[in-house]
Amino acid sequence: MNLIKMLDQRRSTPSRTLHGPGPNAEEVRQMLTSALRVPDHGKLAPWRFLKIQGDTRLALGDLLAQRALELDANASESIIEKDRARFSFAPVIITVIARLTPKHKVPEQEQILSGGAVCFALLQAAQGLGYGAQWLTGWAAYDPVITKKLGIEENECILGFIHIGNSDEMAPERLRPKLEDLLSDLSL
Ligand SMILES: Cc1cc2nc3c(=O)[nH]c(=O)nc-3n(C[C@H](O)[C@H](O)[C@H](O)COP(=O)(O)O)c2cc1C
Repeated sequence: MNLIKMLDQRRSTPSRTLHGPGPNAEEVRQMLTSALRVPDHGKLAPWRFLKIQGDTRLALGDLLAQRALELDANASESIIEKDRARFSFAPVIITVIARLTPKHKVPEQEQILSGGAVCFALLQAAQGLGYGAQWLTGWAAYDPVITKKLGIEENECILGFIHIGNSDEMAPERLRPKLEDLLSDLSL
């Protein structure tokens, strides 16, 4: 597909509508290889990936449910079950992790921006290969107990869980911001 047309048609597919078959190992490699081509000031490659698939998704869901109860012993069953199910829909979830070099001449903000671009490029690559995808964080991405379990180091943070899979439904479109409200001309 023409690149501009593809960009104009990009949209997320809600993770709960995703299912298998997901991308195979080669397709995942292809998506990640495309995503690695993002701009990267200082060539720091300030990111890494953690692939979550198979039964590990369910084990992670159990961990989330357990932690949610620990954080709020009065949490309703529906909240706990929602947390348990979070990683159960998409067959493949790629965790994009920022690896920050503090006090570098390339500010941390730019290192994180580069990682954000990786997340977006991954969404596009997934859609380009015919899959649906959604970029999610949720509380788990910021919870110290969960992030420790995922092996997130002191200088690292989770930028997103990119859920990837097949979907029967056409992803719903949403109202997009109006360019006229956002664009102005600099006049000096
Ligand atoms: C950093 C980041 C984190 C996000 N986390 C969530 C999330 O936890 N839950 C959610 O419903 N949407 C989240 N979103 C929004 C979805 O990725 C997506 O943009 C939304 O479903 C709208 O779809 P669209 O991409 O077609 O506009 C997040 C977006 C970004 C950029």
